[in-house]
Amino acid sequence: MVRKLLIAGNWKMNGLLAEGADLAKGIAGEVKKMGKLPCEFLVCPPFTLLTTVKKSLRGAKVALGAQDCHFADKGAHTGDISPAMLKDIGCQYVILGHSERRANHGETSELINVKAQSAYRNELKAIICVGETLNERDAGRAVEVCTKQILDSVPESATYQNTVIAYEPVWAIGTGKVPTTKDVAEIHAAIRKTLARKLGKSNANRMRILYGGSVKPSNAAELLSLDDVDGALIGGASLKVEDFIGIAKNACKC
Ligand code: 13P
Repeated sequence: MVRKLLIAGNWKMNGLLAEGADLAKGIAGEVKKMGKLPCEFLVCPPFTLLTTVKKSLRGAKVALGAQDCHFADKGAHTGDISPAMLKDIGCQYVILGHSERRANHGETSELINVKAQSAYRNELKAIICVGETLNERDAGRAVEVCTKQILDSVPESATYQNTVIAYEPVWAIGTGKVPTTKDVAEIHAAIRKTLARKLGKSNANRMRILYGGSVKPSNAAELLSLDDVDGALIGGASLKVEDFIGIAKNACKC
């Protein structure tokens, strides 16, 4: 089963206008130089940079995504952004259920499920994030936790076309710590098995499962060569053109 690798940058809460434009232009320039691409590229800047980044990416095959959305299309939700708004300004993707939102904003898997359905209605692809904490891993519960998050967060209507999964162990995010390839392979295989149970084998076999957590150019080739790893969701290293592109070059041999 061929699943095209997705190299995705999650810029988190980083970048003022000028920096965002520079970063996007830098990435666009490098991607254009590559010619035929063996992987897909995506950047997910903060809401305030979406329009600027879209302009700066013009002409390059780099998709645009946001980092969260509300489940409603519009209404009295002060401070929120709807999937309809994201679609309207040119987003193709939205990250949902990142552990920083689960932890800092009390987002539950049930809420993420409803947000994903709303993303689909607005023709956005959802990147649904799951991952265990260090305590959960130490207690031997990593597979159980990720399985439950998949079962509860992924809607019945999810397909390989409208959904990407990201496995991001919470303890590996921004820490420089990375699970062993054996552990990454174990969780990705468990996620794919759970997706097959929930959505059928055909969807599960074609759905991309990204790894996220301290991905760098130096560890990208090893992580992304694993059977069930179909790309990376990159935080810190996506803020430097050379690192983001270096990850893609090392992982996709481009
Ligand atoms: P880092 O790559 O900085 O560890 O962040 C990973 C992440 O949270 C991407 O969503």
